[in-house]
Amino acid sequence: MQLKSRHLLGIEHLDKAEIELILDTAASFKEVSTREIKKVPTLRGKTVVTLFYEVSTRTRTSFELAAKRLSADTVSISTSTSSVQKGETLVDTVRNLEAMKPDYFVVRHSCSGAALMISRISQASIVNAGDGSHEHPTQALLDAFTMRERKGDISKLRVAIIGDIRHSRVVRSNILLLRKLGADVHIAGPATLLPPGMDRLGVTVTSDIGVAIRNADVVMMLRIQQERMDKSFFPSLREFAMYYGLTRERMRLAKSDAIIMHPGPINRGVEIDHELADCDRSVILDQTENGVAVRMAVLYLLAGGNPAGEAS
Ligand code: CP
Repeated sequence: MQLKSRHLLGIEHLDKAEIELILDTAASFKEVSTREIKKVPTLRGKTVVTLFYEVSTRTRTSFELAAKRLSADTVSISTSTSSVQKGETLVDTVRNLEAMKPDYFVVRHSCSGAALMISRISQASIVNAGDGSHEHPTQALLDAFTMRERKGDISKLRVAIIGDIRHSRVVRSNILLLRKLGADVHIAGPATLLPPGMDRLGVTVTSDIGVAIRNADVVMMLRIQQERMDKSFFPSLREFAMYYGLTRERMRLAKSDAIIMHPGPINRGVEIDHELADCDRSVILDQTENGVAVRMAVLYLLAGGNPAGEAS
């Protein structure tokens, strides 16, 4: 089995079998990062361009490491040091980079639909590394990989996702993926940060964090995205933390073996208490580690790679 598209623009375009193929392939790649020589020849001769119009630590680094561990060449374009600063448009930037014959563009942009737009003008495979408030597909895939690794069958899990639902591309990709795999998904946040129509995605919506967390197997906290807020959605960060922050007391409502997730970066003391971010139920650094294997799998499969087992 192979992926149907040469692009990964969003979870919305993947079916259940394709999601499972990516997760299975990532499982076979995870071991590469534990070797003394962290490299396989799988994508030798391919070129991966990372084109980030927004800041990133985890996504950009793990895509670059994933490409390097597959022996691809990588080029990193930062808008702060590129001709974007001279007013060059996204289309002109892509057309000029395209002239140098890359095989992949990994794109992060503040506009929803930016990756889709590039896929229409490029011969390369396009990977959406986050577009506005729309999707962040590889984050949802690495989250699912981590849930499956820690908790087993995703269709049996109750997952609570809490925080800034309105501005989060992570929540949209996670909801689409978790519903395709059959999980029971509950989302919670202040009413002002809950966009209308979320229930049509097959999730339970509440503004009561305790209701969402009760009996959860997985508690995923989201970052408050102040950079995307054009007005005030809650009185203060202190009040947000008081009513919607994850505390030890609130975590007692979840199952006793529930795990804590966060895509990062964390606002410590806002959406999650310091001690919970670092406690033994937190799998936040596992998520970051698994991001490399998942992104290796995505790059490999978009090149037409064969299923797990033939990866090394
Ligand atoms: N989770 C995530 O996308 O982190 P970065 O913004 O650091 O890439």
